[in-house]
Amino acid sequence: MSSPSVIPVPPAVAAHARIDEARYKAMYERSIRDPEGFWAEQGRRLNWIRPYTQVKDVDYTGDVRIRWFHDGTLNACWNCVDRHLPARAGQTAILWEGDDPAEDRHVTYGEMHEAICRLANVLKARGVKKGDRVTIYMPMIPEAAYAMLACARIGAVHSVVFGGFSPESLIGRIQDCDSAVVITADEGLRGGRKVPLKANVDAALEHCPAVHSVIVVRRTGGKVGWAEGRDVWYHEATAAASRDCPVEEMSAEDPLFILYTSGSTGKPKGVLHTTGGYLVFASMTHEAVFDYRDGEIYWCTADVGWVTGHSYIVYGPLANGATTLMFEGVPNYPDASRFWQVVDKHKVNIFYTAPTAIRALMREGEAPVKKASRQSLRLLGSVGEPINPEAWLWYWNVVGEGRCPIVDTWWQTETGGILITPLPGATALKPGSATLPFFGVRPVIVDNEGNHLEGATEGNLCLADSWPGQMRTVYGDHKRFVETYFSTFKGMYFTGDGARRDEDGYYWITGRVDDVINVAGHRLGTAEIESALVAHPKVAEAAVVGYPHDIKGQGIYAYVTLVAGEATTEELRRELVQWVRKEIGPIATPDLIQWAPGLPKTRSGKIMRRILRKIAANEHGQLGDTSTLADPGVVDDLVGNRMNRA
Ligand code: WT7
Repeated sequence: MSSPSVIPVPPAVAAHARIDEARYKAMYERSIRDPEGFWAEQGRRLNWIRPYTQVKDVDYTGDVRIRWFHDGTLNACWNCVDRHLPARAGQTAILWEGDDPAEDRHVTYGEMHEAICRLANVLKARGVKKGDRVTIYMPMIPEAAYAMLACARIGAVHSVVFGGFSPESLIGRIQDCDSAVVITADEGLRGGRKVPLKANVDAALEHCPAVHSVIVVRRTGGKVGWAEGRDVWYHEATAAASRDCPVEEMSAEDPLFILYTSGSTGKPKGVLHTTGGYLVFASMTHEAVFDYRDGEIYWCTADVGWVTGHSYIVYGPLANGATTLMFEGVPNYPDASRFWQVVDKHKVNIFYTAPTAIRALMREGEAPVKKASRQSLRLLGSVGEPINPEAWLWYWNVVGEGRCPIVDTWWQTETGGILITPLPGATALKPGSATLPFFGVRPVIVDNEGNHLEGATEGNLCLADSWPGQMRTVYGDHKRFVETYFSTFKGMYFTGDGARRDEDGYYWITGRVDDVINVAGHRLGTAEIESALVAHPKVAEAAVVGYPHDIKGQGIYAYVTLVAGEATTEELRRELVQWVRKEIGPIATPDLIQWAPGLPKTRSGKIMRRILRKIAANEHGQLGDTSTLADPGVVDDLVGNRMNRA
């Protein structure tokens, strides 16, 4: 195998590096040798109400305890907004670009402060107190950030639910955390199409009697249903509210937000992040990984419904006093040049997106990119799934013209912030590798028995020690937290990812090793899709696996066994696709459904997913050992009728 090419730090970047290779090494070494001292210093990037004297209090064994800065107090909204006012009241905080290229808005720190205070007072008037949960189901408009920060201001815990999720999914997420208040909009707007957010909320709330207040932002002016007493227009309520709202003093370990994410089993879990450590880590990683410099325009294309939007559209950039661009639309509307048109229009310096978007745009050729100058760009980022070297090189050559370092950032909802990544001024790049650990991060690769593997190797990716942005628990289910992340390999956090470490110590994430799939950067549990399928009256059994997909990274392949006597029709296939969309949301749309008279099971009844994954990948020549199957004959049928023949 030819060794992959190495791209050194471009000389122009090296000349201005704040963290060069030597400094990275020294800082990294210090962060591992003396985490307490290192993070004690880093914690000071925030303004604390009562300074911490304790830094790290972590035990990965037994019940698992993770605390950072725990005797300090602060407020996250204060750190993201108020403290910048003396110097930045007139600086743009949120640069909003609408779905329609003719629409944009510059929101200054001063304006944002007022909007947040007014909304916080509306929440208080509706009875929201410190510790209460508020569900946010919003399009990509500045009010989504105000909603998050208004919660943080008064100590309420926000749970943002991605606007692409169905009413069914919304019900589960509202009920799990007992929200009594929902903040939404009449409709969202994406790619010229309307998303019926308020109607979805109305449908969900039929099953959530505890919700007494719905605050509705008027985005499109579309017609919506109205529950008198429960529903209130954002613009009316905030106009009537006071613009003064003191911040709540929070302990560093008070919850900041819950974000639901899929796991290998069961319902999505509420990942809980707390205030101090999370914000220190989001702020520090934003500054170091994106090399953010005062006055620059920074654009992360994620949705605030995902952790990327939390840490790298809202909390990290705003904690750093940055100008963060928030984009309502999609990469291919009105056409495939949109991203680069926006880059030129707003003179974007730092651009952070997902491999699936890069692959989709790559397919459109170079012309849409070349239509824009992109001269303002100096740094590119990638997140959400492994980026294949071909897409990486296109991003590097065509978009960045060989001038802009690419930071391929590996992290997870659970990690709160970036853990494995290049630093633009310090790290020679290898296309497809997330490269090296961030400060304080101790990746280890273990075999299936938990033995540490040294040197160049491949196995399960774990983290040997904590970092301040780490999740603290699964909301309402600490036992599940311990079982999911700390029981497979004792004394370590298990990521669920596989990784290879090369001879230079660079990490190459190989993808999930559990039953989680990553479809266009969206994380889905195969178990969730299976339970949606079997909820259909005609479905007896279902098994879902991922398979390689050119644009989406992974596609969704479902094997479905029908109830005896039901006919395997095209109509039913379409109906099941719609059914899953309705149960979970469009992101879970099955790509391929294969009728399976039987599923390959062991004699103890366990479905052998390894075999299903091979057939779905059209690698049925390499099925491996099938001798332990209860009925080896089912495999021939599945291979013969496989759906992916690519
Ligand atoms: C999973 C986490 C991190 C925010 C967005 C996704 C995969 C993420 C990379 C990357 C390879 C990546 C992993 C991880 N992943 N970034 N740069 N290279 N894989 O957050 O929904 O919690 O998903 O996304 O498999 O475990 P998430």
